[in-house]
Amino acid sequence: MGNKIVRAVELAPRTRLFEIEAPHIAQRGQAGQFVILRVNDQGERIPLTLANRDPGQGTITLVFQEVGKTTEMLGRLQVGQEIHDLAGPLGKATHIPTGKTVVCVGGGIGNAVVWPQVQALKEAGNRCLAILGARTKELLILEDEIRALADEVIITTDDGSYGRKGMVTHALTDLIEGGEKVDEVITIGPVVMMKFVCRATQPFGIPTQASLNPLMVDGTGMCGACRVTVGGQTRFACVEGPEFDGHQVDFDELITRLAYYQPEERASLDSYHRCRLEAAADQLRH
Ligand SMILES: Cc1cc2nc3c(=O)[nH]c(=O)nc-3n(C[C@H](O)[C@H](O)[C@H](O)COP(=O)(O)OP(=O)(O)OC[C@H]3O[C@@H](n4cnc5c(N)ncnc54)[C@H](O)[C@@H]3O)c2cc1C
Ligand code: FES
Repeated sequence: MGNKIVRAVELAPRTRLFEIEAPHIAQRGQAGQFVILRVNDQGERIPLTLANRDPGQGTITLVFQEVGKTTEMLGRLQVGQEIHDLAGPLGKATHIPTGKTVVCVGGGIGNAVVWPQVQALKEAGNRCLAILGARTKELLILEDEIRALADEVIITTDDGSYGRKGMVTHALTDLIEGGEKVDEVITIGPVVMMKFVCRATQPFGIPTQASLNPLMVDGTGMCGACRVTVGGQTRFACVEGPEFDGHQVDFDELITRLAYYQPEERASLDSYHRCRLEAAADQLRH
C-alpha cells in the first residue's frame, strides 16, 4: 500500500505542497532530512526534503517544484491518491546549535527547507534570522509560515517586485557589515547561490552549512550517484549529508555533475508529454 495524499496546495506556479500519510517518518523525521519516493512502480526515485511533519496526525509535508518528468507526474496527483512508495527519513539532520544567532539563507524551492530549520533553531533557543530569495514575488513561498517562527525575515527578489531588489548575498553581507553578530549561517537553494553565500561568509570566518542537492539514486550510500567533494575528500551526500561545511565544498564540480544527464532528462520529459498528448487524442477519438 502506498502513502495517501491528504492535502494538496499550489504555493506558486509549478510549486506544490503535499501533506501525506507517513506515520513512521512523521514520528522520527528531523529538520534537514529527506525522503526518496517513487510515483509508480516503474518510476525513478527522487529525493524531497521533509518540509514539515505532524506526528499526531501521522503526516509529513513535502514541497516540490515541477522541473522534470517525475516531479510533473507527482504534481498531477490529487488528494486521496497515493504515492507508490516513500522511504525515509534519510540523511543527517541539520546541526542545531543552542543560544546562538543563526541566519538561514534560502532561495527558490530551498525556502521549503528553511521552514523546518527555523523551527528547530527556535525550539533550541537560538535567535534566528531568515533571508528568503526568489526571482519574483509570485515565486516566493512559505513567507507567512517562516515569519511566524523567525525573529526577523528579509525578503529579496531579483526583479525588485517584492522586498529588497537584488540577491540574498547582498542582504547577508549588509546584515553582517551592519553589526549583526552572526554566529552561524545555513544556506539552501540553487547551487550558484549557495556558492556565493559561502564566499560571502568566508572573509568573516562565519561557519556556514550548505545543504547540497546532487543527483541521488538509492539514498543509502551504495550507488555513489550523490558523491560530492568536500575539503578534497569524496563524500556521499545521502548518508553523510546533505549538509556540509560550505567553505570546503567544490561547488563547481557539483554544478557540472548536476548537468551530466540533462539531454536524457529533457528527452524523458518530451516523451512523457508526447504520451500524454497521444492518450488525450485517443480519448477524443473514442
Ligand atoms: C537531498 C535532496 C533534497 C531535495 N529536496 C527537494 C525539495 O524539497 N523540493 C524540490 O522541489 N526538490 C528537491 N530536490 C531536488 C529534486 O530531487 C529534483 O528536482 C528531482 O529529482 C527532479 O526530478 P525530475 O524527474 O522531475 O526531473 P529531472 O528530469 O531529473 O531533471 C530536470 C531538471 O531539473 C534539474 N534538477 C534535477 N535534479 C536536480 C537536483 N537534485 N537539484 C537541482 N536541480 C535538479 C536539472 O536542471 C534537470 O535538468 C532535492 C534534492 C536532494 C538531493
Ligand atoms: S544516492 Fe546512492 S550513494 Fe548516495
